[in-house]
Amino acid sequence: MLVVNNIEKSLLHNNEGFLFRNVSLSVQSAEWISIVGPSGSGKTTLLNCIAGIYKVDEGTIELDASPIHNLSDSQKSDIRRLQIGFVFQDFKLLPYYSVLENVILPLSKDKKSDQLKQKAALLLEQVGINKSYYNRLPSSLSGGEKQRVAIARALISDPKLIICDEPTGNLDNDNKIQVLHILTKLKEKGHSIIVVTHDEEVANEGNRIYELKNSSLNEVENKL
Ligand SMILES: Nc1ncnc2c1ncn2[C@@H]1O[C@H](COP(=O)(O)OP(=O)(O)OP(=O)(O)O)[C@@H](O)[C@H]1O
Ligand SMILES: [Mg+2]
Repeated sequence: MLVVNNIEKSLLHNNEGFLFRNVSLSVQSAEWISIVGPSGSGKTTLLNCIAGIYKVDEGTIELDASPIHNLSDSQKSDIRRLQIGFVFQDFKLLPYYSVLENVILPLSKDKKSDQLKQKAALLLEQVGINKSYYNRLPSSLSGGEKQRVAIARALISDPKLIICDEPTGNLDNDNKIQVLHILTKLKEKGHSIIVVTHDEEVANEGNRIYELKNSSLNEVENKL
């Protein structure tokens, strides 16, 4: 499904060095890959490269056997909107849009709004966000609420690949378990999932665990 082959990324502020190199990874359908590693090792940057938000300096990335690393910015943006759900570490909710508008935004130019609103409502219900929140702005939400809205937004297009950067970082235990349950269900339905996390319990839900450390990505043999 996703094949990342020998990618390299220079340090963003310094072309001389590199943040990671020779990074390869493949994720099949119905597979969950966890990525752990020290703060600053490049996990978020790696996810941004996979999703085409950052360009890679070397290597290739294929989604369903089609190269995606060399597409134009607008083609990459369409792939992100329609085929990849991204839950950002810092949520990236749009501040002047309501909760409901944020969730439907990725598809708002493709689909009828009534259908979309229904789907958004279902997703928000699944992540435990109540109807009374629909018209609120992100600035009025707690960290955990923003995180759950961001998860709902990532799922609106029913993407085959779901990339989550610390999806439970701001959640209490009950909400964390709820999010783990949602991701497990998506995996069982055939979605591919990549989760970056500092949480061992979350990482251990993966079919495989990788560690990004000292510029390389290596599989961890045992559960954490
Ligand atoms: N836009 C940027 N410009 C310059 N340097 C950056 C930028 N984004 C990230 N970096 C640097 O790249 C390195 C990797 O950052 P990244 O956010 O990928 O780490 P991370 O593994 O996700 O860390 P954490 O676990 O704390 O989220 C860090 O040293 C960071 O300062
Ligand atoms: Mg990060």
